[in-house]
Amino acid sequence: MPACMEAAGALAFTLDGQKVVVKAADVDPSLPLASFLRSHLGCHNVKVACGEGGCGACTVLLERQDPSTKAIERHTALSCIKPLPSVHGWNVTTAKGLKDRSGALHKRMETLNAAQCGYCTPGFVVSLYDTLTSAGGDLTTDRLKGELDGNLCRCTGYRSILDVCKSFCTDAPAHLRPTTPDIEDAIPPCKWPTPVPQPLPSTPPPLLKNASLTWHTPSSLAELHSIFRSLRQDGKVRLVGHNTSVCWQEKAKEEECVISLERVEELAGIHVTERAIRVGGQATISELISVIDKEATKTATYAALSAHLRHTGSKQLRNEGTVAGNLMLVKTMAFPSDIAPLLLAWGCRIEYIDLDAPTPSAAQTQMVDLEAFLVADAPKMALIVAIVLDKQNEGAFFRSYRTAMRKHYAHATANAAFWCEFSPSSSGVVSAVRLVAGAVSDRPQRARQTEAFLLEQGLTNKTVTRAIEMLTEEVTIGASSHDSESYRKSLLAGYLYRFLLECINRHDNTRTSTPSPSSTSTHSTTTADTGHLNGTTHTDTDTDPDTDIDREGGGARIWQPLAKPDNERLVTGDAKYTGDVAMDKRALYGAYVTSEHAKATLLRVDGSEAMRVDGVVDIVTSEDFTLNRMINTVTAWDTNLLESVVPIGGQSRFVGQPVALVLAATEDTARKAAHVVKVEWADIQTPVVTIAQAMAAKREYKKMFEGRKGDIAPFEAVFSSRGTADLQVVKGKVDCGSQLHFYLEPQVAVACPDEDGRMTVHTATQGPQYVHENVALALGLPQHKVDVRLRRLGGGFGGKSTGSVPVAIMAAVAARKAGRPVHVSPTRHQDAAMTGGREEIELDYEAAFDRSGRIHAIRASVHVNCGCAGNLAYMCGKYIAEFLEQAYELQNFYLLSKLWITDLPMRMPVRAPGGLPAALAIETILDHIASSLSLDQADVRRANHLTETSLTSAMYVNGEMAAAPRQLTVPVQIARIHDEVCASSEWGRRVAEVAAFNKAHRWRKRGLGLMGLRFPRPLFASNAVINVHVDGTVLLHHEGVEMGQGLHVKVIQVACDTLGTRLFGYPLPASLVRSADFATEFMPNPWLTAASSTSERMCFAMQDAANRMAEKLMPFVNQESADGQVAERWKEVILAANGAKVNLQQQGEWRPSSGNVIDFYDTYGGTVAEVEIDVLTGEHSVRAFHMSYDCGKSINPLVDIGQAEGAAIMGQGFCTSEQVTWDATGRLINDGTWMYKPPLAPDMPTDFRVHLLDNSAFPGGFASSKATGEPPLLGSVSIFLAIQQAIRSARSDAGEEGFFTLSTPATCAKIQQSCGTKIEDMTVEAAKRGE
Ligand SMILES: Cc1cc2nc3c(=O)[nH]c(=O)nc-3n(C[C@H](O)[C@H](O)[C@H](O)COP(=O)(O)OP(=O)(O)OC[C@H]3O[C@@H](n4cnc5c(N)ncnc54)[C@H](O)[C@@H]3O)c2cc1C
Ligand code: FES
Ligand code: FES
Repeated sequence: MPACMEAAGALAFTLDGQKVVVKAADVDPSLPLASFLRSHLGCHNVKVACGEGGCGACTVLLERQDPSTKAIERHTALSCIKPLPSVHGWNVTTAKGLKDRSGALHKRMETLNAAQCGYCTPGFVVSLYDTLTSAGGDLTTDRLKGELDGNLCRCTGYRSILDVCKSFCTDAPAHLRPTTPDIEDAIPPCKWPTPVPQPLPSTPPPLLKNASLTWHTPSSLAELHSIFRSLRQDGKVRLVGHNTSVCWQEKAKEEECVISLERVEELAGIHVTERAIRVGGQATISELISVIDKEATKTATYAALSAHLRHTGSKQLRNEGTVAGNLMLVKTMAFPSDIAPLLLAWGCRIEYIDLDAPTPSAAQTQMVDLEAFLVADAPKMALIVAIVLDKQNEGAFFRSYRTAMRKHYAHATANAAFWCEFSPSSSGVVSAVRLVAGAVSDRPQRARQTEAFLLEQGLTNKTVTRAIEMLTEEVTIGASSHDSESYRKSLLAGYLYRFLLECINRHDNTRTSTPSPSSTSTHSTTTADTGHLNGTTHTDTDTDPDTDIDREGGGARIWQPLAKPDNERLVTGDAKYTGDVAMDKRALYGAYVTSEHAKATLLRVDGSEAMRVDGVVDIVTSEDFTLNRMINTVTAWDTNLLESVVPIGGQSRFVGQPVALVLAATEDTARKAAHVVKVEWADIQTPVVTIAQAMAAKREYKKMFEGRKGDIAPFEAVFSSRGTADLQVVKGKVDCGSQLHFYLEPQVAVACPDEDGRMTVHTATQGPQYVHENVALALGLPQHKVDVRLRRLGGGFGGKSTGSVPVAIMAAVAARKAGRPVHVSPTRHQDAAMTGGREEIELDYEAAFDRSGRIHAIRASVHVNCGCAGNLAYMCGKYIAEFLEQAYELQNFYLLSKLWITDLPMRMPVRAPGGLPAALAIETILDHIASSLSLDQADVRRANHLTETSLTSAMYVNGEMAAAPRQLTVPVQIARIHDEVCASSEWGRRVAEVAAFNKAHRWRKRGLGLMGLRFPRPLFASNAVINVHVDGTVLLHHEGVEMGQGLHVKVIQVACDTLGTRLFGYPLPASLVRSADFATEFMPNPWLTAASSTSERMCFAMQDAANRMAEKLMPFVNQESADGQVAERWKEVILAANGAKVNLQQQGEWRPSSGNVIDFYDTYGGTVAEVEIDVLTGEHSVRAFHMSYDCGKSINPLVDIGQAEGAAIMGQGFCTSEQVTWDATGRLINDGTWMYKPPLAPDMPTDFRVHLLDNSAFPGGFASSKATGEPPLLGSVSIFLAIQQAIRSARSDAGEEGFFTLSTPATCAKIQQSCGTKIEDMTVEAAKRGE
């Protein structure tokens, strides 16, 4: 421990306008701001979803006025990685604090249903405010392109959020302009107040320290040096800019002294002179962008630099991350920087000081080329004082390129920056050139041989291809766990090709005229910059036009587009989730230690070092589990399959399985201590990871499923031949990857022990009954002594069905051991590794069809990767067997579905399990048929549509019939939807345009996908309760879990409509009715909230309760007051009924009319997608996505359209960017936000239209409605089909004909590598055909 000074002074900042002053001695400098706000100030308005800077949920606004210059600084930042010490002197504002300034923004977020589960919403609100205000009131929709690149939402599909944003633009579309402005709308769009930040004491930030970390904030170089000298001999010293790299700096955990550069005066700002731009060592990327943008108006070269810088991380990151910090990451830890290659190619210099020199000072700064600086070992302690970018000559030409797993907010897979100057006199003579390849190895590399070649040989049509070859030979590609060498080389080849082509074009032009800035300002990823803000949506509210709104006084009706009651709280962040449950002072936090091995025997858990960490209280292991150390997760189902913790002496089942739980006074302490727990393993075995390995090891799950219809026996001969005169045959394979749930709210449980051995468990679960049963089992308690509670989920998508159970068990066991409340929440990485995800599936098919494309028979076999247990994955195998037919009539069909056990986490159904791969499979078969007959995809679909008389197939389990054929739900809307979606998307026109485009372009290709969908959904028996209070307010209890799907608002609509209309002819106002939190003490034995069925069935049960209640109240209705307001009349009735001691609690229950516990009905839909791919990089953009979905008569169209849109974009992620890869040891590679990439707002389709089918009442549904949660997700498959079609066009140009399929997702790497591009094709000649 260095001889640091004592902490003194105070940390001062404001939070939402309130001053926060904390004595320095009480501040833990290792805490990120978000943790401090949440745990110390109880500010839960800031949500933490990833804790690693990768999602934007924790975004806050930072503002301050410079005490001397009076300049106001204002920017957004990620509070989960923002060091607490660095907020001294800043005003911190959350979404709640912004409400006073931008009430209209908040209001529109509420009314346009831009919050579903709400977990991302407060962060989004802060980013929206920043985007809207930074334009100074003149924002146009065009300027929104690429904005909002730093906030992830898993629920909404972004359209509603972007609509809110667009509605404030000066060119807002008419349908988004408020017709009846609220008081807040008196302020013109985007001109909300940006008040002068509150002044804070101008005292320097205090010295802060805890047991292992001291945080210094010097204000000058001299002070920095003096601190440095005093610390250097004692221990490790780390310089910190804004510390955004904290998530990768594992070593930081051991550091003892940090010197923050934040306030060092000499490092601040950017200075522009005649000859250079001098970027201070503490200048941020955003600051550099704004300076460069000004220069770009004078010199075109700068625009390319700015465009690339804007693709560095997200806006919040660029606001804080410094340029110097980025470069130092390259120097010290081989970081895949975007900035280093840019600056290397630009030819910039570094001014630095060697802090180890005896008396360093600004006067002793040294200047060196960036290239030399990055590779040199010395000096060990360099302080970057400035980065100097010399101004470019007019003749210089600069371009940069990058490709990543997602276009925004993702590290580059490869990048490059190229710069050159031509001789003004002779054609093609290159006078200077710098070619830099980045992100493919430890350091950016100059391709000097290629440069020399171009200098010698000049740039001609002939030298282009050779230069590309040389570059790919010369650049070393480092090892990567996720991208192949050949892909990264191809990317570099494509970049240089584009650059040289542009050079040739430009050079030809420059000899005649100077190019305009716009002609040189494009960034390579042109397909990336989609005009996503063109998205539109269509909702048919179907509201009764005769509704007497005045009389009803705000009455809530079924079929109304009513906003969710908690939207206001979701938008400000006041809404509380399980992780926000107030903890008492004695409470403990648990942090997991997890298994490193998929298959090994656990010998020992040594927590001695962890126990020495200040604040650690205990360590829970399997020794603390009494119930045979094995816990059922789903007792009612199969077998004991998921262990909550690996038993000592027992075997691990997968990497990431819990081994122990460290209990400490704070979560941060527990997590740090968990790192030092030592775990001893023996008998480490090679795991079975893939289906092929499981087959070889004969690890078949005990159940197999068959889908059967008609008889395929007569077609055996056709299948084994190459077809007959009448029937042709196609054979192929569908390879379906996994997908993670990626809910934003992490798994979390809080267990609170109570008197008499009782336990209350607050849990984020879709299956409270599973938590209830299993916690009781784990604690050996009768169920009436366990109460399971929750208010809402921040997303579930199937991952919190049973995935929440082990977390709840762990919390309960720990709480009992400690005798205190315990809060347990895995990190984002642990969460992903434990919860599993969608099952990988391989499906082989053979289909016999006639010349019209009509299918006569299909034979298919399916193999499902279940992970370490088949308990839940079997659903997927079963659904494929049941639902392969989808929207099509398969007269003769046989499918055998087998499941395979591997050493991966148990797969957990993800939204639309089974249905999604089934849709992918049948649509692939239809595309295959269309391709082999050269028919239009639409015609082949039409030839096979289901009809009103069609029967479904039968499903067999282990040879026994489990589901008999049944009639389809009528009306069968497939053909109608197909026609509508073809008409709305102008299918015929698109087909012709895409063909023409592909003919004219060699390196960009377009594709179309079209599909129909049918997804049977269940209706389960259900219960509900209405409690009426004597003041007339009503509390609704039901079995369902609210997770943003609008369940509460729908049951409120039902209760209001039923009670009010039965008694008075008008619905009750929604303000009288509230839906209660869930508690097993009140609603025992609930069914899982899943399968898109809960809203409809709860509405049925609630309607029954309301009808019964209305019966009881009818005698108390005073007919004489029939003209009064409904609310007043209702209160009168309740007073009278209560006076008569009527029981004002009423149960309701519902069963399907068949009398069964479950009944199925069919939902229908159809989609069309158009995509464009970049053949050279594999990037794609979705140009159009049109969906028509049969939601029956929607109970609440505002909610249902949001569900359909969110499902479509989640499906887009499955089809494109959400890669899940396991290495050979069974480790999940894509386990956090750095490697797992759900779509962002800029990824959404340019023309996005989701339409709920009009006039489509479904008599069997609740109030004629159908479900929306999952089925629309299937519609995203058309995006995947379209990408494949575009690839086929590229392959055809490359001479590779024939039907071709990809495995999902269609990542950039897979797209690029499938197009068959060879370097020899990269000629000037080829490009003449059109890029
Ligand atoms: C969410 C996120 C997304 C990102 N995406 C991208 C991306 O797409 N492309 C990309 O290129 N980068 C990306 N980055 C990296 C990002 O650019 C860097 O984290 C940031 O620029 C570092 O700046 P900082 O001030 O926070 O540095 P710090 O984290 O404070 O420090 C980083 C390193 O630099 C050293 N250091 C800092 N300043 C100086 C100085 N003046 N002199 C000497 N040493 C110094 C520190 O000692 C430390 O070793 C991303 C980072 C995050 C968190
Ligand atoms: S929680 Fe901070 S970025 Fe995800
Ligand atoms: S509303 Fe955005 S994540 Fe749920």
